[in-house]
Amino acid sequence: MTGLEIQAAQWLDGFYELEHLLATRRWVLRLRPHASAELRLAALVHDAERHFPGGPTGTPQGGFDDPDYLFAHSIRSADVVEKWLRERAGVMDEKFIHRVRALVLRHEVGGGVEADVLQAADSLSFLETLDWLTVDWVRNGRYTKEEANQKLRWMLERIRPPEAGALGIPYYERAARDLDRAGQPDSSTARRRQTAGDLHFLCGLAATAPRAEEP
Ligand SMILES: [Fe+2]
Repeated sequence: MTGLEIQAAQWLDGFYELEHLLATRRWVLRLRPHASAELRLAALVHDAERHFPGGPTGTPQGGFDDPDYLFAHSIRSADVVEKWLRERAGVMDEKFIHRVRALVLRHEVGGGVEADVLQAADSLSFLETLDWLTVDWVRNGRYTKEEANQKLRWMLERIRPPEAGALGIPYYERAARDLDRAGQPDSSTARRRQTAGDLHFLCGLAATAPRAEEP
């Protein structure tokens, strides 16, 4: 990782999506081994706004591809990321900032080679790392099992690069199977959420997972 990428990961330490963001960057490199610095950074920060209170919230009625929510989320993330970049000493390249902003803005919808790779990497990473979140949605009553499955399917179906779609199928199938667990009592979600946002743990720098606070 570049120094700026490490700073970005440290900035988002404690965010429950940190594991997902790191995995999105990894999937970008799997799909495009020579991905640009802008694309790698955009992958690492694309959902940043959810780490900061006050963001938009979707509703189950709006569906998972509700443009009102997706555009508001993407714009707020782009704003948060641009502000963070401008506060970093040494990031004065307007083209770099503009390109990162443009990719973050497009991460939900794609459009162009790099944005399509970012969207695909986001989907692959979601299916790989956020299966516990969809189980939790069902468990806490936000969505039914069928609705959570629709989210998983949508994340798979929106992938454009054909090779990426094929890579996503086994992750989709595993995540869909995991939804069967949603009906069983399980107290591990709080711990899973905490480890998913712990940079030291994710980088192997902590010997054991942090203790989650008991609900
Ligand atoms: Fe994402």
